[in-house]
Formats: sequence, C-alpha cells, structure tokens
Amino acid sequence: MSEDFIILTGTSNPPLAHQIGKLLQTEVYEPITVFLDGEIRVKIPHNMRRRHVYIIQPTSFPVNDHIMELLLMIDAAKRGSASEIIAVIPYFGYSRQDRKEIARVPISASLIASAIEHAGANRILTVDIHSEQQEGFVNIPWDNVYGSYSLVPVLKKKNLLNLIVASPDKGGMKRATGYTKLLGAKGLALVYKERDIDISNVSEALGVMGDVKDRDILLVDDMIDTGGTLINAAEYLKKNGAKSIIAAVTHGLFSGQALESISNSIIEEIIVTDTIMQKNEVVQSEKVRIVSVAKLLAEVISRTEIGESISRDLIL
Ligand code: R5P
Repeated sequence: MSEDFIILTGTSNPPLAHQIGKLLQTEVYEPITVFLDGEIRVKIPHNMRRRHVYIIQPTSFPVNDHIMELLLMIDAAKRGSASEIIAVIPYFGYSRQDRKEIARVPISASLIASAIEHAGANRILTVDIHSEQQEGFVNIPWDNVYGSYSLVPVLKKKNLLNLIVASPDKGGMKRATGYTKLLGAKGLALVYKERDIDISNVSEALGVMGDVKDRDILLVDDMIDTGGTLINAAEYLKKNGAKSIIAAVTHGLFSGQALESISNSIIEEIIVTDTIMQKNEVVQSEKVRIVSVAKLLAEVISRTEIGESISRDLIL
C-alpha cells in the first residue's frame, strides 16, 4: 500500500496491530517506553509530516494506562505534523458509562471521547461501541463497525439449524436482530436483565421473551466482563427449555473469575474477537474460540485511504 499513512500501536494489542500492518503491507511502529516512575514516553521513529497516522490502541485493562498511551501518541503525531490522525480503538474502555444513570456520577465515556478529540484525533474508528449515540460525544467523524462482520462467517460455517438468536439484555436487541438476519435464524429471543446500579458487575436474569423451547440458542453480546450476564441468561434459557447454548461476543474482557465461571457453565462455546489481547489461559481454553478482526480493520483503513464507503459489503 501507499507510503502516505503510518501505523502506530500502543502496548494494549500489538499482535492485532501487526496483523493489520501485514495485511496492508506496511510497517507498524511501537513508540512506547515507560520511565522508572511510571511515566509513559512516546518517541515515533518515522517522519509523519503530511501523512495520515493510524493509532491502534484498544483501551482495555489496564484501561487508564492504555488511554494515557493513546492520548500521548495522538499528541506526538499532532506535533509531528501528521495531516490526519485516526484513533483506531477496537475496544473502547469506559463505553458502558455513557449516561447519567443516577445522581452525582460522571458521563465517563463522554469525557474520554472529548479527551481523545482534544488531544488532536481527527477521526475515531471503533468496533461494536457499547452504544452508537456516543459518536455524538465528539465533533469529529466516528466510524463504528460491527464485530458481527468478523463473527458471522465463522458462525455460518457451523451450519446452525433450528437456531434462535438471543440477547441477554434489552440494550443488545439491535445487535441480536442483526445477527438473526445475517444468519437467517428461525427467530429472536430476549432475556430480561436487571442490574443493581449501586453495585458494579452484578446483574440478574428475570424473564424471557421468545420461543426458546427445544431450540439451539446463540447468545450475542458486545462484551463479556465477569461473565455474569451471559451465564445468568444461559441458565434462564435452559430453565425455559433451550436445547443447546453457544455465545458470540465481540470483546472478551474476561475479568476476575470470568474464564473459570464460563468453563463451569452450561454455555458450550464462546466465540470472541481479538479486539482485546488475551491472556494465555483464555487462548488455551477449550470453551473459547478467538476470531480476528484484523482483516475487517485493514479493509476499513484501506477504504478510508481511498475514500470508499465502509458500510457497503463489509462482511469479509
Ligand atoms: C451490558 O450492558 C453489556 O452489554 C454486557 O452485557 C455486560 O457489560 C457484560 O458484563 P458481565 O460479563 O460482567 O455481566
């Protein structure tokens, strides 16, 4: 590809960035080092003057360090006279804190997005942002592509018959509807979930809408964090007669005991993407299959460079 753009990666997911670079036949630079006191240092080894700079950095755990790396790389690119800086954030940390749900809380996702814009990004690219309204938190273009573009081809190969797609909460219904159409599933179900807003990471499944009896279920969600949402939904579906349950999830956070809980759960398989770099135990888990979004992101970058639509025929 052209010499006109440069790819940088922070420390959150260099393998994904390098895979994207390989597909685009361009070098990927890793400009981050850390001072002994923990301060992050950025030194970009390539001239950026009048070039487009793509900075690939999912803001996953440790989220605050990864955000800081991203901001500093954007600042370095701006001061190095890049003509356009594109923050490629396959997983956007803080995206669940996207509204003022109760009194006296911040809208953290808005603050982070504004900081990225303020640092000098000219464009943001995400995969399955938690809620698409967040694109309005900034005054720069924000492209969001779906994890399903990478997951559906893998799911199709499984020849899932008798299939019902289920969302583990009402917020995921649009996503589940998309999967239902793309997979030609027999129908759609919704598990009704309540979350205790005073306690983080605790939720309960309370009801189900849709015909799940004797059906093979595909649960779809944007992320698995503790695993509580998916496991509760799976148990509820099983109690209501579901025959088998697998899950397709874009972002595998696998926090705390999530992997162990999933391994001991009735969910037969979880397919996640590599928006987040995984620990060895996740990679080696028999229940988890990882599908790469590298091809998807490489295609989006390449279309962005030639000014083509990124919404048309993106399933690869
Ligand atoms: C919630 O709205 C999200 O879409 C996920 O369902 C949730 O964040 C998953 O978290 P956990 O795995 O901890 O239940």
